[in-house]
Amino acid sequence: MKITVFGTGYVGLVQGAVLAEVGHDVLCVDIDAAKVARLNDGQIPIYEPGLEDLVRANHAAGRLNFTTDAARGVAHGRIQFIAVGTPPDEDGSADLQYVLGVAQTIAEHMAEPRVVITKSTVPVGTADKVRARIAETLAGRGAAIGFDVVSNPEFLKEGAAVADCMRPDRIVIGAGSPETEELLREVYEPFNRSRDKIIVMDVRSAELTKYAANCMLATKISFMNEIAGIAERLGADVEMVRQGIGADQRIGHHFIYPGAGYGGSCFPKDVKALIHTARAAGFEPTVLQAVEDRNDAQKEVIFDKIRRHYGGAPKGRTFALWGLSFKPNTDDMREAASRVLMEALWAAGAKVQAYDPEAMEETQRIYGDRDDLTLAGTKEAALRGADALVVMTEWQAFRAPDFDLIGERLGARVVFDGRNLYDPGRMAKKGFAYYAIGRGAAAPSEAASEASSSAA
Ligand SMILES: NC(=O)c1ccc[n+]([C@@H]2O[C@H](COP(=O)([O-])OP(=O)(O)OC[C@H]3O[C@@H](n4cnc5c(N)ncnc54)[C@H](O)[C@@H]3O)[C@@H](O)[C@H]2O)c1
Repeated sequence: MKITVFGTGYVGLVQGAVLAEVGHDVLCVDIDAAKVARLNDGQIPIYEPGLEDLVRANHAAGRLNFTTDAARGVAHGRIQFIAVGTPPDEDGSADLQYVLGVAQTIAEHMAEPRVVITKSTVPVGTADKVRARIAETLAGRGAAIGFDVVSNPEFLKEGAAVADCMRPDRIVIGAGSPETEELLREVYEPFNRSRDKIIVMDVRSAELTKYAANCMLATKISFMNEIAGIAERLGADVEMVRQGIGADQRIGHHFIYPGAGYGGSCFPKDVKALIHTARAAGFEPTVLQAVEDRNDAQKEVIFDKIRRHYGGAPKGRTFALWGLSFKPNTDDMREAASRVLMEALWAAGAKVQAYDPEAMEETQRIYGDRDDLTLAGTKEAALRGADALVVMTEWQAFRAPDFDLIGERLGARVVFDGRNLYDPGRMAKKGFAYYAIGRGAAAPSEAASEASSSAA
């Protein structure tokens, strides 16, 4: 099938590549000429496991192409996916200018019937706006051409986007007509073999399903961060509590890890957008507001621990920072907790020596050259002479480090762990002052501090 995808970001590029992999003929359109040039040159603008090979192989096979030429894109596929960004507007609502811009472009160029599919995360009612924009534009052209609008939200996770698109848990289709539903069933047939994953519903329910899914996951995280805050003050260990509640099948083990707050391009903006949508509909979303407030506060927790450890602002100190991306296996730093921390440290007059396996280029792009930021070549190099280590992303490479080496490289044995990667008892034995989330502070055990002071 010939398919056009507007937007070659995390969603459009991955979805386009996966659709090409199963044999569809995919043309991806983006307004970012530099990005399109890089893609045509075999360079992948984002880090996503498995994506590079997939894009290169399908591009070489001629099934996956990239262009800035929107007219060519509209002429190519009967199916037109819209996978452009929907960033938050100033009031928290989703900014639909890019989605509606694509709808308009499609209507300006279409010469034959088209099925327009919103894959971007869009508020309830957007399909109606897309439909209206296309109808108006066609009317302005005096063209009577049939079209349909479908909502088909994307549920991929960054860091596992290719795997999620190849083996989706479910495919939600908010379909217009039975013919359109059948067309989408054909598109997704290769991903729907083991069992029927397609859930067909009305367009508005499909749009709300996407927000409800992300808000539910954000709620689980904020809930657990709240329990962590309580545990810390009561001398309980949230990691024990996590296991204790996760064993209940009604709760489950997924998404109940406490930490330094959720980030990324989706949860923060989607929680905000649903709050806005609910208020606009005259309903106060008290749970969602609490989820957002808890998360904003959670992003300050590590800095608070740092301030308490030093008895005030850490002016003049240097921090080794492991992990810059908002989560592992991506280079995406949108709304990352690391950014809130770095900016707080800089404002307090501290310096950062940072390392991330994939997000160094992105950090450089965001912050440029500055005296209080050193981008280290390795995680070990980031430690050199720093006053403490701070872990902000749970990359595999940070899970079992050489603690003796960390102790030797750092100026002092102090670790702030925003992802609860290490065992407080073991850290105390090794002579570290160790601060995690919801676990109380581990002071170095007496034996260990004697050993380290006599070694010094
Ligand atoms: N990133 C995720 O994990 C994820 C997961 C599910 C859903 N979503 C949703 O999917 C949508 C896209 O997210 P993303 O992370 O891929 O965004 P992104 O910012 O990575 O990419 C968006 C792309 O769209 C392009 N674009 C903008 N206007 C265009 C136009 N008129 N024509 C063609 N291209 C245009 C931009 O240049 C950019 O390359 C958002 O609504 C997001 O909420 C994202």
